[in-house]
Amino acid sequence: MLSASEIRAELAARRENYSLSHELYCDEGVLQADLDQIFYREWLFAVPACELPKPGNYATLQVGAYPVIVVRGADGMIRAFHNVCRHRGQRLCSAPSGTTAKLVCPYHQWTYELDGRLIWARDMQEDFDASKHGLKKVHCVDIGGMVFICLAEVPPPIADLAQTLGRYLAPAGLKEAKVAFSSTIVEKGNWKLVIENNRECYHCGGSHPSLCRTYSDNPRMTAMEGPDAASPDILAHWKRCEEAGLPSRFTAHPRMQWRLARIPLLNNAESYTMSTKAAVTGHRMGQMPFSDAGSLLFFHYPNTWNHFLADHAIVFRILPLSPTETEVTTKWLVPADAVEGKDYDLKTLTEVWLNTNDEDRQVVEENQKGILSPAYEPGPYSTVQEEGVIQFVDWYCGTMAERLGPTAQAAE
Ligand code: FES
Ligand SMILES: [Fe+2]
Repeated sequence: MLSASEIRAELAARRENYSLSHELYCDEGVLQADLDQIFYREWLFAVPACELPKPGNYATLQVGAYPVIVVRGADGMIRAFHNVCRHRGQRLCSAPSGTTAKLVCPYHQWTYELDGRLIWARDMQEDFDASKHGLKKVHCVDIGGMVFICLAEVPPPIADLAQTLGRYLAPAGLKEAKVAFSSTIVEKGNWKLVIENNRECYHCGGSHPSLCRTYSDNPRMTAMEGPDAASPDILAHWKRCEEAGLPSRFTAHPRMQWRLARIPLLNNAESYTMSTKAAVTGHRMGQMPFSDAGSLLFFHYPNTWNHFLADHAIVFRILPLSPTETEVTTKWLVPADAVEGKDYDLKTLTEVWLNTNDEDRQVVEENQKGILSPAYEPGPYSTVQEEGVIQFVDWYCGTMAERLGPTAQAAE
């Protein structure tokens, strides 16, 4: 298990534009550092707000060592708390999601209001102060229908993202949507391999026959490198969409922690379906003006990438489980008033990305197996095809090096 100074040395020894070392993908100490320095400090995508439409609706998630509950209060506000009872520490809610009038601890029934206040604790002595035993808060913000949480005491600034993402998501209809289907899989690979795989389409032609019906594997068509690398087709698409009120142009965080860009689908496809036609008929998301608006792509490191289309949206969340295991949760959102069996069927809606996720799981798992070999050595990324991966790895290494402090020469 690597120490902080050994991790710093690994980061310092990294060769630019090369994949990371065996240790950075496999070591227990590195995963702990990734959790401490990134997952416990950054804003993380938790759930789409429409998954919690009513007061009392809740969802739970596990971020490293931290069980977290996200719940909509009686006042309609979504809040997040540490899912840990203030009596003797029982995990309050064990279900992945549910509905409850109050949060009641299963151990001794201490009872909390949906806003976290402790309102009932049986037979506690006179000097017990319930007001000092409310649930511990986790920072929580709903941006355009995506709920982000942050475990840090002082979260990093989110105003820029909130403003831009809020504007881009305004017509996307997430608030008037519902979760039509949800899938959670475990990929036996380091979380960074899961993100790396997502940030390139070099592998798409070989791995994703169903996705490639509608999604271009040409990086210039997917604006992976920046607004200046966009093809004439993409520029024309942005113009058409922006004239119709859809923010579309590539925009990003200065260090590329997040990016938004709308891409056209291949051959004027409407959606990620086998037929290329919309999966949801008779309804569009939000104020989407036409059905071939393509896909608004949004990623935010370290744990989400998303596709917002005219007829549905797909949100992805990843959470590391161990150095070589990552939970990947995918949710398909459709307009709230679309009726299953009439306006959409689940197979048509989900099959392309269920296939794609499974294909990605296989490549990530084989990637991890190869990297576990003592014979593995970092290999060169393609600067034509894997610019997105290079950006991610640069963001990761830069962030970790900064947070772990000066390089190995410094006294420990
Ligand atoms: S641990 Fe929750 S009520 Fe006792
Ligand atoms: Fe893929």
